[in-house]
Amino acid sequence: QDKRESLYVTNQWANKFFREQLWDSDLGRSIGLSYFKERGYREDIIKKFELGYSPDAWTSLVDKAQEEGYSKEFLIELGLAVERDDKSLYDRFRGRVLFPIHNLTGRVLGFGGRTLKTDKTVPKYVNSPESEIYHKSNILYGLHLAKKAIMDNDVCYLVEGYADVLSCHQAGVENVVSSSGTSLTTGQIKLISRYSKNVVILYDGDAAGIKASLRGTDMLLEEGLNVKVLLFPDGNDPDSYIKTFGASAFKEYLSKHKEDFVFYKTNILLKDTGGDPIKRAEVIREVVQSIALIPDEIKVSVYLKQCSTLLDIEERVLLSELNKIRIDTA
Ligand code: CTP
Ligand code: MN
Ligand code: MN
Ligand code: MN
Ligand code: MN
Repeated sequence: QDKRESLYVTNQWANKFFREQLWDSDLGRSIGLSYFKERGYREDIIKKFELGYSPDAWTSLVDKAQEEGYSKEFLIELGLAVERDDKSLYDRFRGRVLFPIHNLTGRVLGFGGRTLKTDKTVPKYVNSPESEIYHKSNILYGLHLAKKAIMDNDVCYLVEGYADVLSCHQAGVENVVSSSGTSLTTGQIKLISRYSKNVVILYDGDAAGIKASLRGTDMLLEEGLNVKVLLFPDGNDPDSYIKTFGASAFKEYLSKHKEDFVFYKTNILLKDTGGDPIKRAEVIREVVQSIALIPDEIKVSVYLKQCSTLLDIEERVLLSELNKIRIDTA
């Protein structure tokens, strides 16, 4: 436990270092802070999320950390430093803007670092590795700042990225968390369900986001949550939609366009059928497969009814298909 505490303290120190670089150094201000401002983030949001900047140098953090007595072993375990073959250290995060990742009580577990380059050959994000205190699959980015709003509104918006969470807060929507990418985990779902059983998926409106929204839907249904989905037009994500159309258009879009997963999934899949009856039958089967995951029988029957109306199929046919699926997967 002493070790865990030391890891927390080291990350807290690094978080302070990155924030000072952003706000108090000339390069941090002219490169990092102006990056955030050019993306339209207000200072109160930059401070609320404790955003930072890592200088574009090899040893700025490790030098200062070791000068101040932080142990090499912990810097490496946290992934702040990387060890070379000759045992010397260099900074993992270089020339990136940083998003600290917090636990529920607001302690820093790790960092996501975004490149400032537009060059597609560098990875857009570099993230802290797993460590004794950071288990990515059990963390939702932004939850510590969202939990109260999620309870108050009894709904949680689920987005892909760090930037999406920031922009939602800036638009006044605070009940939002990010799965940090498109691979939602059961651990993350269990975390959400402590605060609300209602989730609206707001993944990116691109092929990866659509695919992940369908996978996420099934996982959420399986855990007994109620799922709605909303896609933004023209490949937008929540952040780019807000930047393009503004906060009030965003909130209006949220209230008008979220769909029950049955409608969402049906419409997505039907788009590719071109009226072919065999393909249509396959769509029906796939939608029923999702409904079959729901643990609550009353909800199952409500959704079967919806599905029957929507696809113009008799309910008893859907029910017998559902029972077949359940036997096959039992
Ligand atoms: N992600 C990651 N590593 C990558 C790409 C993405 O960890 N190489 C995670 C990040 O948490 C990122 C999220 O997946 O925020 C969504 O990715 P993407 O949609 O590609 O990025 P955006 O969040 O939209 O980033 P930005 O708006 O800054 O371009
Ligand atoms: Mn652990
Ligand atoms: Mn994406
Ligand atoms: Mn995105
Ligand atoms: Mn984005």
